[in-house]
Amino acid sequence: MDEGLLWWQRGIIYQIYPRSFQDSSGDGIGNLRGILQRLDYLESLQIDAIWLSPIYRSPMADFGYDVADYTAIDPIFGTMDDFDRLLDAVHRRGMKLVMDLIPNHTSDQHAWFIESRSSRDSAKRDWYIWRDPAPDGGPPNNWLSMFGGPAWTLDEHTGQYYLHQFARQQPELNYRNPEVLRAMLDVLRFWFDKGIDGFRIDVIWLLLKDEDLRDEPLNPTWDGIQPHAQFEHIYTQNLPGVHDLIRALRRVTDEYENRVLIGEIYLPVEDLVTYYGDEDEVHLPFNFQLVELDWKAPVIREAIAAYERSLPERAWPNWVLGNHDRHRIATRAGAAQARAANMLLLTLRGTPTTYYGEEIGMENVPIPLALMQDPPALNQPEMAHVVGRDPVRTPMQWDDSPNAGFTHPDATPWLPLAADYETRNVARQDAEPASMLNLYRALTALRCQEPALYRGAYQAVEAGVDDVLAYLRTADGHARFLVVLNLGSSQHTLDLSAAGSTAQIAIASDLLRAGNVDLAHLALGPDEGLVLRLD
Ligand code: GLC
Repeated sequence: MDEGLLWWQRGIIYQIYPRSFQDSSGDGIGNLRGILQRLDYLESLQIDAIWLSPIYRSPMADFGYDVADYTAIDPIFGTMDDFDRLLDAVHRRGMKLVMDLIPNHTSDQHAWFIESRSSRDSAKRDWYIWRDPAPDGGPPNNWLSMFGGPAWTLDEHTGQYYLHQFARQQPELNYRNPEVLRAMLDVLRFWFDKGIDGFRIDVIWLLLKDEDLRDEPLNPTWDGIQPHAQFEHIYTQNLPGVHDLIRALRRVTDEYENRVLIGEIYLPVEDLVTYYGDEDEVHLPFNFQLVELDWKAPVIREAIAAYERSLPERAWPNWVLGNHDRHRIATRAGAAQARAANMLLLTLRGTPTTYYGEEIGMENVPIPLALMQDPPALNQPEMAHVVGRDPVRTPMQWDDSPNAGFTHPDATPWLPLAADYETRNVARQDAEPASMLNLYRALTALRCQEPALYRGAYQAVEAGVDDVLAYLRTADGHARFLVVLNLGSSQHTLDLSAAGSTAQIAIASDLLRAGNVDLAHLALGPDEGLVLRLD
């Protein structure tokens, strides 16, 4: 019984960074056959959908987010045959496969760009954003790349600059030319025809830029750290016309049954929710508040409330705890909080997204400068430790063998393994009844079974203590749950009698505490979380 919910409403999404999940070839880089070998594990997590970061043909300047061919698999990851086999195997297990779509830019090695840069008269010149130099020969305006330096690179051969808000190997497509959108819609059709279940769309809020390329104004609240943040991005982000483009992507998606579009969007909640459109834009505009905000109960409580208030009618919420661009939650919130953080993710209202390794508490891995690979870190070595994303992309820790079971024991993994992999790994946590992995499984199992959790209402409960988040999840005619999470490191005794007199512990964060509790005097240890069944 799913009460008419669609799979992406009812289910849990798990993000795989393919380079780092499982290598089957011994080259030290993960691949599709590796993922295929690990489907039992994914099934054991009771996740419903796998989102794969890009696997298309790419020179890997931004590790696949620079696409040279949208309809080919990069040989590093395998062949189209491997892909078809993976898709089929995922489907046979009742799971879904979501691909990454990167429509904002291509690789500079994409045939479209090679053609575009060949001459000012190229038939594809206008597929990218070219402009003459400023009178002093410099870039056409003050726009900056998020990876450091100007957002413009001069092409000596034709004497014009092209726009790139990421690496210079990622020239941006010009969506003011309708041919570009048509070509991208064909990419969607190619993969939907193959049977994939949806796309996570990269930087979807950046697709359109100011036609007149006006300079961006200074940001009066700049903290002086990230150069890119010194301007207000009113001419490169969130332009009104971007919604027309998204509606076109959605129309093609709706030609197929039961597919999903998820948008990568870093915007304040009131802007974020406009990307639902009138149920005609993305199904899930990724909600990154748990990724962005300080890990403090009052901040998160208010963020949940603001999100719940802002959601348009019929819009389905979603929550993300981590991804391949941001610090891992166990590092950001502290290792002791990792369990409570997963409890929060898996008991909030809306589709949860887990980043690989969060279920075993993987942390950021410090990467020495000489081994760093990520373009923003390499372009800005003085800030590498702030902007570098390698630390969150290290190999999955499967067991305590050399190379953690990620690749052949004699291979060199593309990024170093975490120092703690011999003790923090899947095999070990699988065998420990009270491990974090088994907590994750207990949470997903409960969420899958209980209507209150997968589709019920959310209601905040006043816990009377700043550090503690408490909320009810309820669905008519079904068991109700009270979730109590201590996001701090002190012990508390709470009076939650407004929610009932007693309750039964369904899941405790240590997986040990059990039995009934008195809600008028509920003891909660440091970093402890409880999912309580009320009736
Ligand atoms: C998105 C991706 C990130 C990539 C960037 C450029 O933010 O998540 O990894 O570098 O877009 O494609």
